[in-house]
Amino acid sequence: MDYQVLMDKAIEVSKNAYAPYSKFSVGACVAGGSGNLYSGCNFENSSYGLTICAERNAIGTAIAAGEKEITAIAIYSPNSPDCRPCGACRQVISDFCAPEGIDVITQDEHGLKIRSFNELFPERFRL
Ligand code: THU
Repeated sequence: MDYQVLMDKAIEVSKNAYAPYSKFSVGACVAGGSGNLYSGCNFENSSYGLTICAERNAIGTAIAAGEKEITAIAIYSPNSPDCRPCGACRQVISDFCAPEGIDVITQDEHGLKIRSFNELFPERFRL
């Protein structure tokens, strides 16, 4: 898989973020098991706790399209190079990736960074 394509989609969708409260825009793009790509951005709410992160929006879109698993995720914030997923999103990603984990792609001034999900979220809870 071309991770730059995944990242470019995360960058593109971050422009649609609805983040009037934090002013922190995030975009994410996941690859589904079929190979199709699904993008999502964060969208906040005046009741702050209802905010949905970009990662969970992208995963929800993949699930709604019929995907059963994700095989990689790219995350981008113009506010923060190398933006990693929050704890809640790590748990959500966990349910849709294989036990051996997936690649988590971010980008900093040196280019793409690829981390192993299992290193980001060791000893994760699974039923
Ligand atoms: N946010 C994400 O979309 N993904 C993350 O992994 C971290 C945080 C969003 C939530 C909120 O809208 C804003 O960034 C600031 O926390």
